[in-house]
Amino acid sequence: MEKMVIEGGYPLHGRVRINGAKNAALPIMAACLLTKGTSKLKGIPDLTDVKTLCNILNELGVDTVKCPDGSLEITVKEEKNITAPYDLVRTMRASICVLGPLLGKRGMAKVSIPGGCSIGSRPIDIHIKGIESLGAQVDVKDGYVIATGEKLKGSVVDLGGPYGSTVLGTCNVMMAAVLGEGRTVLENAACEPEVQDLANFLNKAGADISAIGEKNIIIEGVDELNGIEYEIIPDRIEAGTFMIAGAITGGSIVLENDISCHLTSVVNKLREMGVEIQVSAGKEEFNGVKNGECTVKSDGNIKPANITTLPYPGMPTDMQAQFTALLSIANGTSIITERVFPHRFMHVAELNRMGANIRNEDAIAIIKGVPSLSGTTVMASDLRASASLIVAGLVAKGITEIRRLYHIDRGYEKLEDRLTSLGAKIWREKE
Ligand code: EPZ
Repeated sequence: MEKMVIEGGYPLHGRVRINGAKNAALPIMAACLLTKGTSKLKGIPDLTDVKTLCNILNELGVDTVKCPDGSLEITVKEEKNITAPYDLVRTMRASICVLGPLLGKRGMAKVSIPGGCSIGSRPIDIHIKGIESLGAQVDVKDGYVIATGEKLKGSVVDLGGPYGSTVLGTCNVMMAAVLGEGRTVLENAACEPEVQDLANFLNKAGADISAIGEKNIIIEGVDELNGIEYEIIPDRIEAGTFMIAGAITGGSIVLENDISCHLTSVVNKLREMGVEIQVSAGKEEFNGVKNGECTVKSDGNIKPANITTLPYPGMPTDMQAQFTALLSIANGTSIITERVFPHRFMHVAELNRMGANIRNEDAIAIIKGVPSLSGTTVMASDLRASASLIVAGLVAKGITEIRRLYHIDRGYEKLEDRLTSLGAKIWREKE
């Protein structure tokens, strides 16, 4: 096992390129189950979650080939197997996104139910209700969800839940419906850029999806989808994490390949906290949206702020832990309310071990800013919690050691190398 070691106190300076979005890449890779021929996906990040999904796709008769240019070629070779087994699914809850395409293309799917995790319980009741509305028969047995339905029928499907829309639930039902008969309307659909990217991929492959990015998505069933070349959108959460790393260290960095309109809530909140952010439009187009550069400058004086996480276009829950770290050194008291995963506060106890003053009650964290954090040994509990401990370590006095590092490799490619290139002192060691 490895640990991350950080010597804090070095402001970040320089340029960093944002990679393709993990949470767009995973459902788009799964969507290749629906296609004939080969798809070439560009901008797929090199992450353990991507490798896990490749293993699941291989198990399901799909070839996945990493090309020298970094793209991933995906070809369905045979369609007999319909089972995504527990041993592969348990390491990554996003594996549930093979349910919809397997059912939609092969008429049957048997997918191990992902368990809960440190960000809270991860139910899939809305995914199940959604595919049932399309006429599938669903049994939950021996830890598996088993769905059957030879030809799914278009229908009106309500995807609203107790915490708003569901991202992967919307992806799953969309993928199940594209080859179905007739019109499907997804009501209360998730509008996240990653869901939009999946819909854009499916349309390019031959699907007929409209009102993409709106609350009610309309899908007209088509007979087949074909393999295509497609570039994944830049990762807005990776971009937001670098913005906070730049801000917390009082640095000045430029993000390349950033789509800042996907991050409006994050940018606005950072500006409110006294961080200077300048956005310039670039040249590359992602389905009509341009990428660009984003300059982040801070003198390290962070104003307190109140934050409520919400589905898109609200503040992403995947940025909550990093904001908690940043606000822990703000000049005053801040309140964070978590409205998507109300128990997603495992990072709080670890940040407090670094000298932060944060009280967590139910879905709320009250953060009294302290003048400085101090390095110590801390334990990462999930991907974004790891990111928050790393940004805290960048500004903490002395040495921070972060254990259970495997979480970070699930969602950030070569993070320590990229932070090092910006002037951070950060490295891996054997535990
Ligand atoms: C996606 O998870 C992301 N994962 C998560 O990112 C992200 O935190 C989350 O969306 C919210 O934005 C991927 O895209 C791979 P949800 P997902 O279904 O789709 C409740 C990261 O760090 N719910 O939108 O699984 C659920 O409990 C990860 O990159 C139900 O009640 O999340 C939660 O409270 C972590 N029933 C809320 O909805 C359901 O059937 C939103 O969850 C499904 C969800």
